[in-house]
Amino acid sequence: MSDLTNTGILSAIADHDGAVSIELDRVTKTYPGQRASAVEDFSMSIQPGELIMFVGPSGCGKTTTMKMINRIIEPTSGSIKIDGKDVLSINPNELRCHIGYVIQQIGLFPHLTIAENIGCVPKLLGWSKTKIAERVDQLLTTVQLDPGQFARRYPRQLSGGQQQRVGVARALAADPPVMLMDEPFGATDPITREKLQAEFLRLQATIGKTIIFVTHDFDEAIRLGDRIAVLSERSQIEQFDTPAAILAAPANDYVASFIGQGSALKRLALIPVTEAALGPAAAGVPAVEHTASLRDALDLLVLTGADRVNVLTGTGPAAGSLGHAAISAALAGAGHAHGQKVG
Ligand SMILES: Nc1ncnc2c1ncn2[C@@H]1O[C@H](COP(=O)(O)OP(=O)(O)O)[C@@H](O)[C@H]1O
Ligand SMILES: [Mg+2]
Repeated sequence: MSDLTNTGILSAIADHDGAVSIELDRVTKTYPGQRASAVEDFSMSIQPGELIMFVGPSGCGKTTTMKMINRIIEPTSGSIKIDGKDVLSINPNELRCHIGYVIQQIGLFPHLTIAENIGCVPKLLGWSKTKIAERVDQLLTTVQLDPGQFARRYPRQLSGGQQQRVGVARALAADPPVMLMDEPFGATDPITREKLQAEFLRLQATIGKTIIFVTHDFDEAIRLGDRIAVLSERSQIEQFDTPAAILAAPANDYVASFIGQGSALKRLALIPVTEAALGPAAAGVPAVEHTASLRDALDLLVLTGADRVNVLTGTGPAAGSLGHAAISAALAGAGHAHGQKVG
């Protein structure tokens, strides 16, 4: 019987293009002996392949909400469905083999090599040694660690950023359709964090998993998320929308306080230069790539004191140029539905 109930999730794994939906319906968690709930009536629909950010202060219930999805914590009430299947009907150990999980403390096994750490879930799933070894090599390469150099090392022989990459590789090992990431880059220094974020964005563009990513860093949420849920006490959803929509129109003072200063600059970082109305290319002015954001263009204007910057097309002549007025106009014209990310 348990085989039957598990078919849905397992077949979703087998199908490599198969990102899945996640549906939480009125999920509540009250810890034993506590009067107030840690999570109260939490409902959310997540589309296949979406990267959803949970952002909120320490103690607001982010981790509790996330851990109910892979049943490290059992909900007090409510339902959670992955790909339409009730997770409570699936054996929790089996469920966890098919949900990638990355945490801030990384949690690599210290007495296992990097290769063994990454291969542990495939091993549980009964993969052959050859298949596991191939997968380990592929994943180390994916997270930009040379397999020849790192596979046989132990976790303590890696830097924090390298260990975090291994944590991501391990979570991806069995190609799970769902990834849960709890402040995965929270313990790294700002430069490493920035690199990990950029790598992660590139990775997600190719793997297209359904991901829930917890952070207390609103700027990280803006940079990575397709949609952001701004959470307050008891995991109450104050706003759930695209980064651009939240920046352009915060739902209330609470959300506005999270955005903090400089919301126009943050919005500019989300808009590609190609969205602006470009004038003719100018002579003797600095230039940005066509993949740059309006914030990059403004940065260069301020830095150089030029009144225009050219936008390059890659190989050919510049596509055009823009100045302060075009940047302001693009910001004013950017509707509430900006979904794209500039990375
Ligand atoms: N095992 C537990 N027993 C009792 N209370 C807990 C437990 N885990 C977390 N809490 C409480 O639940 C609330 C939410 O915690 P958590 O989900 O860890 O928040 P966050 O991840 O947003 O920092 C906090 O008030 C925390 O103290
Ligand atoms: Mg937490």
